[in-house]
Amino acid sequence: MDVSELVARFAPAAADEYPHKAAMAVMQELKNDLDGVLEATSYLTGSGGNALQAFYRAPNLSLLKVRFPDGRRTPPHNHGSWAAILVLSGSEKNTVYKRNDDSSLTYERSVELSRGDVIYMAADAVHVAECTSDEPAIGLHVYGGNVLGVEREMWDPDTLEGQPLDWSKYEDLAQRATAADKAPLT
Ligand SMILES: [Fe+2]
Repeated sequence: MDVSELVARFAPAAADEYPHKAAMAVMQELKNDLDGVLEATSYLTGSGGNALQAFYRAPNLSLLKVRFPDGRRTPPHNHGSWAAILVLSGSEKNTVYKRNDDSSLTYERSVELSRGDVIYMAADAVHVAECTSDEPAIGLHVYGGNVLGVEREMWDPDTLEGQPLDWSKYEDLAQRATAADKAPLT
């Protein structure tokens, strides 16, 4: 598989009447070729979901190969659109929250994902992702918008205060989230 094939499969899905459903159908198909997806995206470096790991960004679709090293945990954040993750190798835990009207968070569910598992999050979902394997958790992350360009929110992992997602402040929150014993409110 070539990386252009991934774009060629997801771009029509993003233009579908129900883009999240069409994209999830592509994710299900890709479960049959996890190594092909890994190989096609192996040229992408970086970790933690940064711009280096994006291989397609459009107003209605972003495709990233995201790598979380052992122990790495994100602060709570949203995506400004629906989002889906297909785990390609390693394992990760996702903790999902409901964002209340006052921007406070309510714990909703925790999902353990290993190779071949998929999680879908609606546009209003907030989550924490963390690597739970000795090896890095590597996943194909698909978003229904320009995830590195839209307005998003992140929450301080210690105070749970919500704030606009600012990449210059994100790493401090991520390091404190990683240093904690567990995801907030769990
Ligand atoms: Fe995320």
